[in-house]
Amino acid sequence: MSNTRGNWQSNLGFLLAAIGSAIGLGNVWRFSYMAHEHGGGAFLVPYLVALLLAGLPIMLVEYGVGHLEKASSPLSFRRIGNHYEWLGWWMPVVAMFGIMLYYAVIIGWCVNYFFLSASLGWGLDPQSFFFNDFLKITDSADNLGTFRMPILLATAFVWFLCWLICFRDVSHGIERASKVFMPTLFVLTLIMVGWTLTLEGATDAVLNNYLSADWSRINIFAHDPALRSQAIKTWVAAFGQIFFTLSLGFGIMITYASYLPEKTNIGQNALITCVVNCAYSLIAGLAVFGIVGFMAQSQGVLFEDAIKGGPQLAFVVYPKAISLLPSLNAIFGMMFFLILVIAGLTSGVSLIEAFTCSCTDKFDWPRKKVVTGICVLGFMGSLIFTTQGGLYVLDIVDHFITNYGLVVGGLVECLLVGWVLKTVVLRKHFAKSGSKIPIIWDICVKYITPSLLIILVYFAVKVDSAENYGGYSFDQLLLFGGGAMLACLALALLLALAPWDPERLKRRHQPEEDDLLV
Ligand code: PHE
Repeated sequence: MSNTRGNWQSNLGFLLAAIGSAIGLGNVWRFSYMAHEHGGGAFLVPYLVALLLAGLPIMLVEYGVGHLEKASSPLSFRRIGNHYEWLGWWMPVVAMFGIMLYYAVIIGWCVNYFFLSASLGWGLDPQSFFFNDFLKITDSADNLGTFRMPILLATAFVWFLCWLICFRDVSHGIERASKVFMPTLFVLTLIMVGWTLTLEGATDAVLNNYLSADWSRINIFAHDPALRSQAIKTWVAAFGQIFFTLSLGFGIMITYASYLPEKTNIGQNALITCVVNCAYSLIAGLAVFGIVGFMAQSQGVLFEDAIKGGPQLAFVVYPKAISLLPSLNAIFGMMFFLILVIAGLTSGVSLIEAFTCSCTDKFDWPRKKVVTGICVLGFMGSLIFTTQGGLYVLDIVDHFITNYGLVVGGLVECLLVGWVLKTVVLRKHFAKSGSKIPIIWDICVKYITPSLLIILVYFAVKVDSAENYGGYSFDQLLLFGGGAMLACLALALLLALAPWDPERLKRRHQPEEDDLLV
């Protein structure tokens, strides 16, 4: 059975889907906390530099490769050179099995909290509720305990929704869903920001903790070695955040761009995706800093003592603040968790799509069967994260995948495009399809971005080898972190070994009839 490749119905549909992939849970809780940790407003400088030197150039690489080859990452890389196919598989495999398995569970937590909001069901001590009543967390990663039914059921529901969205071809599935979800997300976020800023203590916190800058935190030339090493950490964190937030290094944007018509302004699309995503983070930051400020003021504690990182921001700090609101608490709570569910779903489907498209490109299996198989397998893989000890596993897997998996994907792309395919080929393709890219892009892709990424990996390895991440034992890190990475690698190699239909390898960017779109 032969599949025809899907196409976006409009450029706007493509943009909304790509922005939907980029805007995710990370924009709400990861960005705000990073900004707080790393000098408030001063963090924006490394963040913007990272956007210009790594984010935008790699976004252009991904859009360019996908559009030139009209293929997902394994097929694109294979056409660049026979030996590179496994690298093209590594990225969507990591997306699907390294990230989506736990990402679906976090969205499942949000679904639970959406319903809990209606009755402020977390009670008077949200911290104890989250760990002891909701997760019923075990004492260590060695003991996973049993499944938590509310989490398991919500996770099944999330996989079902993803299946529903991905089942049909992109224009009828992901594009339609994005056209509903993304405007809803923007409107809800603006309402939440406006509402938050009316709360007492919110604007003060925004001004004093978010928009003020501690410049010493970014000075990598500081004389004091302690300050200098702190500043280096800030820069490393900014680059990591840009990669994560733009969904780069997973082949997602390659896949999404492969569905674009021949004439399309790739440069402009890349710029819009980056700007809207980062602007969303900045705006969502107003809501996060505002609500923490409000909570700190009503409880008479310091801002620093009120804010928490990672999942605790959404599942401990927010519930606490929601309970303290003067009125309409339940509505505010449901709105916040709905925002997270929508942001998460549109990122989740992109992770699934990158792997689905890779499989249909190579094996020509019917899309609907592939999506069904992937979602069933995915749900089964998620089960480990729905156990009582699931949070530990999630934390370890996330640490390794976001610190190494992603960056390695980006590095491979730069090296392949910069040195094997050659940037001039993509540059010509950009010009042919309607966009002019400044020459600095070539220099970034060949020299600057890969060097920065190598430095990033170097520091990540240095920190990880100095002390066990998160206080976990070496065996636990090896099992869940190293094990996850090795399993992904093995699967990527296996998939790359399967033989190709030679016809598929030949088809290189042939114009199609329905490529007439603007
Ligand atoms: N970009 C998403 C976020 O910020 C996360 C994500 C990463 C989604 C990688 C897809 C791929 O939350």
